[in-house]
Amino acid sequence: SGSNNFQNCFHHQTNLSVSISNVTFTKNSSSYASILQSSTQNLRFSTNSTPKPEFIIMPIHKSHIQAAIICSRKNGMKIRVRSGGHDYEGLSYVSNDPFVILDLANLRSIKVFIEKESAWVESGATLGELYREIAEKSRVYGFPAGSCPTVGVGGHFSGGGFGTIFRKYGLAVDNIIDAKIIDANGRILNRRSMGEDLFWAIRGGGGASFGVIFAWKVKLVRVPSTVTVFEIQKTSEQGATKLLHKWQLIANKLTKDLFLHAVVGVIEASESSNKTVVVSFGSLFLGGVDKLLTLMEQNFPELGVDRRDCTEMSWIESVLYFAGFPTEGSYDVLLNRTQAFKSFFKAKSDYVKKPISEAGLEGLWKVVLEEEASLLILTPYGGKMSEISDSETPFPHRNGNLYKIQYMVTWETDDETEKNMGWIRRLYAYMTPYVSKSPRSAYLNYRDLDLGVNRNGYTNYAQASVWGLKYFKSNFKILAQIKTKVDPSNFFRDEQSIPLFVRD
Ligand code: FDA
Repeated sequence: SGSNNFQNCFHHQTNLSVSISNVTFTKNSSSYASILQSSTQNLRFSTNSTPKPEFIIMPIHKSHIQAAIICSRKNGMKIRVRSGGHDYEGLSYVSNDPFVILDLANLRSIKVFIEKESAWVESGATLGELYREIAEKSRVYGFPAGSCPTVGVGGHFSGGGFGTIFRKYGLAVDNIIDAKIIDANGRILNRRSMGEDLFWAIRGGGGASFGVIFAWKVKLVRVPSTVTVFEIQKTSEQGATKLLHKWQLIANKLTKDLFLHAVVGVIEASESSNKTVVVSFGSLFLGGVDKLLTLMEQNFPELGVDRRDCTEMSWIESVLYFAGFPTEGSYDVLLNRTQAFKSFFKAKSDYVKKPISEAGLEGLWKVVLEEEASLLILTPYGGKMSEISDSETPFPHRNGNLYKIQYMVTWETDDETEKNMGWIRRLYAYMTPYVSKSPRSAYLNYRDLDLGVNRNGYTNYAQASVWGLKYFKSNFKILAQIKTKVDPSNFFRDEQSIPLFVRD
């Protein structure tokens, strides 16, 4: 009856002029399953035993979001807000309580104003759609956000958002200048009416704790007409360990125009059937090849970058390149909202403040070699990231970090889940002496429920600090105070939502 009441309430609230079947989907709707799976990225949360929503609401107008909030509240249903569905732990589409998914995929308009160097983008848009729309208007503007085009703006912006130009321009959240949110009372607020506290909180504190952000105003950044990319792979037999050791010393100190990340994986060794570790050094330089070669020769001659390794292109072509698409092909591939390939996966993250010794790296390779489908992505910090204070936004991982590591493992079937989860936890344990401590930091957008969870959504501030300090450091307390002010009934809650700041 809770479901019926919800539906009646939703009808009543919205006075829907469009057919309700285009907006609400019940378990009986023929498209329910395909919509549920449409943006689900992690097959770990797409099994028969995964709890399913009573309804999926796909708003085509902001009044539908208001109605969904009001009616969920009235009828004791949880709400899960989904923009691009890339949450690593499925929190945008799974709940253990009766729940409704508010899927914003149809709210994705993008308006680019080149002359004002800004854009309004709705949360249901993907990063690919945003980048393509900017490039349609100008080849010398871009936006500093993630490299995977299917990631949704809503989750990505509210959790930080970094990509290949973040050393120059900062995170997505550093370039947001306004937003529109609907709060737990169904009120529509913009930056002025929500106030600077809430506006601060939703730029990195995770949107799901505060309301439904349905649109963002961003500042566009100028990019040069020519950028240059290269990728050089070295196996451990080819000296990858020494190179990576050196990389740790220089990557965060390079000019802001130069992004040089390192991706560690496992391949077949060329002369035997043994597996070996391979490190790919991938770069985006905001400029032409000549200057890039000079910089590499000055800072990292050991890598041996040659002109033939480098390709000049436009910034939007570099977006295609880092997404794995042919750079000479149509930009329309950026409009594709689903990943070509989906798998089961688990990921975790760490920040590194001191270089890891070569012996430490050799030990890491041993653990990595246990798991063929493992991937470690090492992202250099420094540049603009070191110029922004830890409290400027809730994202606190700024000055003092050499690089961030993302550990990831993928697999194909549910029966491999336990083995792979075990492996990544062992890897994480191995890394303990080498990474940040007190707290051991983590990136919210690489959500990891191993760090700790709210039980039934009611964990108090002290208990939640176990995971909260890892994502937010001292900003966690401020987030909890803002949460207490803007959502005192804790309506917007999930396994890792910001708790109320109530002293026990
Ligand atoms: P999703 O819809 O699952 O939402 C994530 C969280 O935000 C959930 O808690 C959800 O409820 C909440 N939320 C979503 N929309 C909201 C809204 N409108 N209002 C309030 N709350 C909302 N990150 C990065 O920084 N750089 C990168 O390059 C990449 N690359 C990447 C590749 C791939 C393949 C994946 C799966 C993920 C990444 N990420 C990433 C991580 C990504 O930034 C992170 O998963 C984002 O939260 C995804 O945002 P979505 O809207 O897609 O997720």
